[in-house]
Amino acid sequence: MDVWQCDANGFYDIQQPGVQPAGNGRGLFHTDSEGRFRFRTVLPSHYPIPTDGPVGRFLRATGRHPYRPAHIHFIVRADGHAPLTTHVFVAGSPHLDSQMTWLGGAPKISARIAAPAGAMWQGAM
Ligand SMILES: [Fe+2]
Repeated sequence: MDVWQCDANGFYDIQQPGVQPAGNGRGLFHTDSEGRFRFRTVLPSHYPIPTDGPVGRFLRATGRHPYRPAHIHFIVRADGHAPLTTHVFVAGSPHLDSQMTWLGGAPKISARIAAPAGAMWQGAM
């Protein structure tokens, strides 16, 4: 699994060179034979996407805000299967029901992070 997230202030490592160490909030993991995994991390924050380009013009034209709810990204790979790129959202995050990438309405959410900051979170895919 390839996993990445922003920090507790809503910034990814590549947005803050010299502030965050390269690779901060990123990790490569192997699941166990049952697909289970666990890791410890900071609780990511919600954040706004940049609005100074075409996406910003699109958001303004459609009356949508630029915020994404707090989440952790995953790319999951397994022999014999197509890679799965997804993200898991933090329960209770601001903008969870209105984020800008959900143009067709909020999706069915099947998993949420519900751990306090710094707590162990584990799951299976
Ligand atoms: Fe993100």
